[in-house]
Amino acid sequence: MSRFLPAQNSRDPFEILTSTADIPIIVVHSRRPNGRAMRQRARRPKSLQSCTRTSVSLPILVYSELERLASKRNVSLAWVIRDAAERYVVDGGEQSSDGQLGLGFSSALRRVTTRAEAKAHGLSHRVTGLFAGIGGIELGLQKAGHHAALLCDNDPAAMAVLEAKFPTVPRHGDVITLDRVPKETTLVSAGFPCQDLSQAGTTKGIAGSRSGLVGEVFRLIRSSSTPWILLENVPFMLQLAQGEAMNVITSALEDLGYSWAYRVVDSRAFGLPQRRRRVYLIASNVADPRTILFADEAPSVPEREKNGHPVAYGFYWTEGLRGLGWAVDAVPTLKGGSTIGIPSPPAVLLTDGRIVTPAIEDAEMLQGFPRNWTKSAERVGKRTLRWKLVGNAVSVPASHWIGRRLRNPLPCLEFATRTMVDHRHWPTAAWNIGAGRTAVIASEFPIHSRRRSLESMIAERATDLSARATAGFLARASRAQLRFPAHFLPAVRAHLKRMQSTLSRDDRQASSKVKSHYRRRTVGAT
Ligand SMILES: C[S@@+](CC[C@H](N)C(=O)[O-])C[C@H]1O[C@@H](n2cnc3c(N)ncnc32)[C@H](O)[C@@H]1O
Repeated sequence: MSRFLPAQNSRDPFEILTSTADIPIIVVHSRRPNGRAMRQRARRPKSLQSCTRTSVSLPILVYSELERLASKRNVSLAWVIRDAAERYVVDGGEQSSDGQLGLGFSSALRRVTTRAEAKAHGLSHRVTGLFAGIGGIELGLQKAGHHAALLCDNDPAAMAVLEAKFPTVPRHGDVITLDRVPKETTLVSAGFPCQDLSQAGTTKGIAGSRSGLVGEVFRLIRSSSTPWILLENVPFMLQLAQGEAMNVITSALEDLGYSWAYRVVDSRAFGLPQRRRRVYLIASNVADPRTILFADEAPSVPEREKNGHPVAYGFYWTEGLRGLGWAVDAVPTLKGGSTIGIPSPPAVLLTDGRIVTPAIEDAEMLQGFPRNWTKSAERVGKRTLRWKLVGNAVSVPASHWIGRRLRNPLPCLEFATRTMVDHRHWPTAAWNIGAGRTAVIASEFPIHSRRRSLESMIAERATDLSARATAGFLARASRAQLRFPAHFLPAVRAHLKRMQSTLSRDDRQASSKVKSHYRRRTVGAT
C-alpha cells in the first residue's frame, strides 16, 4: 500500500509517496503535463539502507532538470538521484530513528536542481520580445537586469519608439516572417494583440485574425524550445467563448512539455494610480513557474478614500449609460482609442472640483513609462497615435516585478486551490505543473507598493473637460440606472456650470473684441 501526502496547499510542491516495502531502492517518479508517467529507480546509499520512505514523486520540472543534469554530467539519472540522497545524509538531512527519510529529501533534490538551473541560466534572461509595442514588458525586464535579444513589432510608430529607446537591439517587423528566435534567447515575451479577445474589441476570440497571432509564438517556441515564456493579455479572454483562448494556449503549452501558471494582476499593486487588470502567464520547461507568480501575496489595504483623505476620481466621460469605468484615486484602464488614432482619454475629477483629461505625457507616467517615452512616434505619425501605443502597453512596474522574481525565484506561497474539472470557466489564477490544471485563490495584488496619488500625476497640461463633453456625459448619466457616489453628479454639474460661464465670458470677450475692432475701423475710416 502506498499513500500520497497532499502537497497542493503546501509550500513544498513535492509529494512523498510512502512505501511500506523495505526495498533498498529509491523510486523517483513524475508525470508529464500530457499525463505520461515517468519513473526512475536508484540504489539507496548504504547510509539509508534501513529507510522505509523510499519513493519520491517530483514535479515534471524538477524531474526533467534532474534528467538534464544527468545528461550534462554524462551519468545516469539513477546516479544523480543516488548522489543527491548521499549528499542529503552528509548534510545531516532528517532521518527518523527507524531510518525514514524526512520530507526534506525532496527539498534536497530541489536544491540540486535550483543550483543547476541558476548556473544554466544565470537568472539573467536574453529576451525575444514578440508584439513588443513600445516595450512595456521589455523595459520592466531590463530594469530587473535582463536583456533584450530581439524586438518584433509591425507597427511603424511602435518601431520608431523601439528604435529610439532600445537602439542597440535588433528589430524585426511582421512576426509571420520571423523564421526563428535568436539562439541565445532564454525567454520569449508576448503581449499578443487583444482586439479579438477584449470586451471593447471584436470578440471574435482566439480564431480572430489578430489574437490568433499567438499561434506564431507557439510556432517559434516549438522550434527553439525556449525555457521560459511570458504571455500577457486582457482578463476578458478567461470568459470569452467559454474560455476557448485559455484552452488553446494552455493545451499548446502542455503539448510542448511546459508547466504554466497565470494570475490576473492589477497595476495598482505596483504603485500606479491606474486600475488595469491583466493576465500574466509564465510557462517554463525547466523550472516551476509558480516561483515567479505565486511567491508574493499582499495583505489588502483599504482605499485611500475611506481614510478620509480627499482624493481625485477617474472615469470615462464617454460612458455613463450602461456602465461607468470608475476608479478612486486612480484612472480606469487606459485604452488605445480607435484604430485610426482617435484617442479616448479618461476624465479626472480633481479635489478642487475641476474635471480634466490627462495629457499623453501623464498617460505615459500612469503606465510607468518616463514622460515622452513615445515622443519619437511623432516622427512617423500624428501625435494622437501615441495614445494607442500607450493604451496597448504593459505597465512597466508589472513586468519589473516579474523580472525581479525571474532573477530571484522564491517558493510558492500557500494558496487555497481546487482541481479544475470544468475547463470552460477559467479562474483569475491557475497553474498546471504536471499534476493537472489547478484553480488558485490568489489576490490581484501580489505586492502593495506605496501608490502616488492620481492628482500628483496630472500635470498642468491636463485640459478641462469641455462644456459639450460634460453636458453629453450628464445627459447619459441622468438617463442611466447607475448608482453614482453621492457627491459625484453634483460635482459634474458644477463643472458644467463653470465651463458654460467661461464659455459665455469667452463669447462675450470675443464679441466685444470684434465690436471694438469694427469700431476702430469705423473711426479710422471717418
Ligand atoms: C497589445 S500590443 C503589445 C504592447 C506591448 N506589450 C507594449 O508593452 O507596448 C500588440 C502589438 O502587436 C503588434 N502586432 C500586431 N500584429 C503583428 C504582427 N503580425 N507582427 C508583429 N507585431 C504585430 C501591434 O503592432 C501591437 O504593438
